[in-house]
Amino acid sequence: MVHYLPMDCANPDRPMPLAGQGPNTLPTSAAKHENQPLVFDASVLGSESNIPSQFIWPDHEKPCLEAPELVIPTIDMGVLLSGDPLAVSKAAELVNEACKKHGFFLVVNHGVDSGLIDKAQQYMDLFFGMQLSEKQRAQRKTGENYGYASSFVGRFSSKLPWKETLSFRYCSDSQNIVEEYLVNVMGADFRHFGRLYQDYCEAMGKLSQGIMQLIGISLGLDQAYFRDFFEGHDSILRLNHYPPCQKPELALGTGPHSDPTALTILHQDQVGGLQVFADGKWHAVTPIPGSFVVNIGDTVMALSNGIYKSCLHRAVVNSQTVRRSLAFFLCPRMDKPVTPPAGLLSSENPRIYPDFTWATLLEFTQKYYRADMKTLDAFSHWLQEQDTNKKTP
Ligand code: OGA
Ligand code: NI
Repeated sequence: MVHYLPMDCANPDRPMPLAGQGPNTLPTSAAKHENQPLVFDASVLGSESNIPSQFIWPDHEKPCLEAPELVIPTIDMGVLLSGDPLAVSKAAELVNEACKKHGFFLVVNHGVDSGLIDKAQQYMDLFFGMQLSEKQRAQRKTGENYGYASSFVGRFSSKLPWKETLSFRYCSDSQNIVEEYLVNVMGADFRHFGRLYQDYCEAMGKLSQGIMQLIGISLGLDQAYFRDFFEGHDSILRLNHYPPCQKPELALGTGPHSDPTALTILHQDQVGGLQVFADGKWHAVTPIPGSFVVNIGDTVMALSNGIYKSCLHRAVVNSQTVRRSLAFFLCPRMDKPVTPPAGLLSSENPRIYPDFTWATLLEFTQKYYRADMKTLDAFSHWLQEQDTNKKTP
């Protein structure tokens, strides 16, 4: 019998406030308001020399701030437009190698306007620089996937992430969904802000199509296979804001996790902090201007019948500087069956994972979470248990 921790959804590293817990008391000077539930207030915590114990990770999970660089290929997205079959197959070969090893690569020459990227980074300061009570107008409620989230410091919660996030739903089928959401929760003053992230999502949607096309080619699939598969995708944009932390060797900005989604396109600022677990140790992925870091998630691992690996990663923090990252998570339509194409199956390569939908995997990662590379295995067992329970009333 496997036990899972209750966790908060697509943001796997944010534990859910546990029901039935009273107000908590912090053991440090951060406990300014005893008897009040405490949330992560960056303006206070960023300069605390004693960080609350809920943010201190156990010794075996404490970060190494200096890590060797991960060797990852740089993929020139221009080759898809160039129509040069040799260049395309070379790029697909690099993608194939990377995805079999750890699932991380960089993309350049991606066609996303650099002004748009700069603004998407800068506008984060507008939002996260506001008073906590203002940001909480977009507060994400338990069970929801979108909105503003910061660690809820519950009395028994631990290993909390040193960050705050703002997440949006982006469906290719719903026009202006990001803009409308922001205007709804934050008011008409936020239309411009919403429009910017709407534009950013549209650019990411387009880029993700190109990347999935290359991944399809790298698996020997028809060029159009993934374009059709992700038709009407139901994706997520998350803004990650990591304030400075006076004890960066004790805390983590984002705890170790693999992304349950299909594909992640990450833009990190120049500060650095992303780390990937490969070949038995943590490696850094240092920011390269003009590039995006791409990694495949559990959904593509399942779609490739386990040929491609979704890999454990995390973000470390530092004592000097705020760090910002924008993570776009490509996800299938909620009810689209996730099943590997027949071409990837054979008697030597039988099915590893059962069919599922993104809606069910999302629900699973909302309610139960394993902070390791076995999320898919755990999910498969859980699905099978559910199935057995249905059959034996
Ligand atoms: C994530 C993630 C890493 C980073 O949001 O899933 O892994 O560097 N972020 O912010
Ligand atoms: Ni991630």
